[in-house]
Amino acid sequence: MFPLLLAGLVGIAGAVQPDARPALPAPLRDLPWAQLNILHTTDVHGWFGGHLQEPSFSADWGDYISFAQHLHKKADDEGVDLLLIDTGDRVEGNGLYDSSEPKGRYTFDILKEQHIDLICSGNHELYKQNSSENEYSVTVPDFKGNYLASNLDIVDPKTGKLVPLAPRYKKFTTKNQGIRILAFGFMFDFTGNANNTVIQPVEQTVKEEWFQKAIRDKDVDLILVFGHVVIRSKEYDAVFKSIRGEQWDTPVVFLGGHSHIRDYKVYDKKSVALESGRYMETIGFLSVSGLSSGHNEGKDIVPASLAGPKFARRYMDNNLFSMYHHSNTNSSTFPTGKGSNVSNAIASARAELHLNKIRGCVPQDLFVNRAPYPSNNSIFSWLEKSVLPTQLATSPRASVQGKKALVITNTGSVRFDVFHGPFTRDTEYLVSPFTSGFHYVADVPLKVASRVLELLNSEGSIMTDVAKEYGLEPWMLPEPEQMNSRRQKPNADSTENEYSNFESYAPTYFGDSIQAPLHPHKSTKDDEPTPFPGYTTTDDLGRDGDDTIHTPIKFYNVPNCIQATIGFDLDLNLDLNLNPKSSPTLVETKDENGDDVVVDVVYNEFIQPWVLLALQYLGHKVNETDTKIYLEGKTMTDVISEWVEGNWGNGGRECP
Ligand SMILES: *[C@@H]1O[C@H](CO)[C@@H](O)[C@H](O)[C@H]1NC(C)=O
Ligand SMILES: *[C@@H]1O[C@H](CO)[C@@H](O)[C@H](O)[C@H]1NC(C)=O
Ligand SMILES: *[C@@H]1O[C@H](CO)[C@@H](O)[C@H](O)[C@H]1NC(C)=O
Ligand SMILES: *[C@@H]1O[C@H](CO)[C@@H](O)[C@H](O)[C@H]1NC(C)=O
Ligand SMILES: *[C@@H]1O[C@H](CO)[C@@H](O)[C@H](O)[C@H]1NC(C)=O
Ligand SMILES: *[C@@H]1O[C@H](CO)[C@@H](O)[C@H](O)[C@H]1NC(C)=O
Repeated sequence: MFPLLLAGLVGIAGAVQPDARPALPAPLRDLPWAQLNILHTTDVHGWFGGHLQEPSFSADWGDYISFAQHLHKKADDEGVDLLLIDTGDRVEGNGLYDSSEPKGRYTFDILKEQHIDLICSGNHELYKQNSSENEYSVTVPDFKGNYLASNLDIVDPKTGKLVPLAPRYKKFTTKNQGIRILAFGFMFDFTGNANNTVIQPVEQTVKEEWFQKAIRDKDVDLILVFGHVVIRSKEYDAVFKSIRGEQWDTPVVFLGGHSHIRDYKVYDKKSVALESGRYMETIGFLSVSGLSSGHNEGKDIVPASLAGPKFARRYMDNNLFSMYHHSNTNSSTFPTGKGSNVSNAIASARAELHLNKIRGCVPQDLFVNRAPYPSNNSIFSWLEKSVLPTQLATSPRASVQGKKALVITNTGSVRFDVFHGPFTRDTEYLVSPFTSGFHYVADVPLKVASRVLELLNSEGSIMTDVAKEYGLEPWMLPEPEQMNSRRQKPNADSTENEYSNFESYAPTYFGDSIQAPLHPHKSTKDDEPTPFPGYTTTDDLGRDGDDTIHTPIKFYNVPNCIQATIGFDLDLNLDLNLNPKSSPTLVETKDENGDDVVVDVVYNEFIQPWVLLALQYLGHKVNETDTKIYLEGKTMTDVISEWVEGNWGNGGRECP
């Protein structure tokens, strides 16, 4: 049973970002406090300001600081322990980080105000040389002693020597319970990093002498493995096996990230794993009781090896309604001096970066996964029918030389929904934070070019096998949420192209949309808030993990890549001789002289290796030297926001 809250149906005021929509009252489940308690964030991607348009996730980093301060006090009062952990990808994905020059000018000082006990890098910290150097010179010192890098090295920019980004592991004793913890901080087997960092595959790291020696330590009550690693992964399986090879019954807790979902896995009776979502939507809570400790060793209590340990988990929606409840505070007692200062710092950074500047007014919601593709509410249909054809036609290749083009982009290049209402400078970065531009291969025979998309979208084809040899995995193309539904949840009923079993894949939205009411329905009993749409997570323990009781939302799969045409129309059922059921060719691939019709194959720079491989596979020999920039100086973000300004612009005024 969960306690139903007796709050009235009024919004919860006091989120310090002045433009945020207030949280809504909802039925809540309590946090399962125990001997050791962990608050976990992951894949924050710069969302330190919270979600201004979504009441369920409208608390900011300053609120999280106030919240942690209250929970620390509670822990101290009760003599139990509280640890804060962050598992990487703090950068890229929000204007607060991406729109400053240099990037992250404001976010490092905001981040460090939170006391984090264990922290590591994600892949996004490693794509660019200067972002990993920021970790080395700013974040690691800011969290000195708490930042770990078990399998990650960096070239020191001063000495040119390859050194560990941070210590490999640490052993420490908790403040109140005296629990002896051995901690490791991993990065998954990522290969897309800039060449100034080196990631040792986890499977090799666990064979290293230092690791084997560390896990043989018997004076340890808990092994805590945190990392930017999916909790259902070969990497964590390897760590688990290696630890269990040495310590058959020491409790092990894993904390993971990267795939942006809420998830909890039971490894064995004494080992579990938690993953806590994305974008500051979720604050994960994991607790352990029944641990032995330096304090109770030798005392007359039931040894942990017999009684425990017991684990529990909760996924908190990141908003003030939840935070007040779990910290037993209200709008006047909640904000702390430090938390308010940080919320103010975020507000002034947002103002300096003009993140509220309006580019246009969006007439209807456009969804990444919450509408089928193709459809009128699909952001991808909007891109391929409206945005890409209009904006890319401004390339001199098309507008001056009159060349036809096929434009291909991966769906993973779009990260977030666009909501009815203002499209701001903030929105630009949320939708597509990536800085890659558009490249092209000139004059490819249409009969070849028109087959590229199908190859990129087919799984298990020869093409995907070849791609793997080059380190290119098919899951790199769609967004990370969906990759998880394909890789780790094989029971997904994909026949209807939706994955409604895995409701925990996308956020809640309370805008003016058909699926989600702006306000929860009034309950028949006036004093009980009624559930409204949001995360309804299913994990290894069942369906009671979310702190907020929601009604489910439906999600749809989308292809790896989508395609638009410039200067001609292509029937999508073009007979490619790959699918015998498709309709006959509607586009001539020969001109009147019997020569091949040629088109430019334009693509998002990020997918260049796949596109070149696909062209080669189709018998069109090309390499990197054959590629050129299609639209000088323009990224996907620019392309989208320029279209919005041109078509939905409102002169910078407020939207009606
Ligand atoms: C990295 O360098 C580029 C080019 O100078 C700059 O635009 C960007 O903001 C820098 N990024 C970081 C994280 O400092
Ligand atoms: C790393 O990449 C940079 C830029 O692509 C290049 O200039 C440099 O030579 C590379 N360094 C090594 C050691 O490969
Ligand atoms: C908050 O709680 C305090 C102490 O319990 C109480 O005095 C105060 O009136 C409450 N404030 C609000 C806004 O409910
Ligand atoms: C908050 O900021 C003010 C003004 O900069 C400063 O005087 C105060 O010490 C800060 N409070 C905390 C708790 O950090
Ligand atoms: C969706 O359909 C409606 C009605 O046909 C139309 O007015 C609107 O422009 C369409 N939206 C998009 C994004 O294509
Ligand atoms: C790329 O192809 C061109 C011919 O199209 C050839 O001259 C060049 O050597 C190739 N480069 C590489 C790196 O294979």
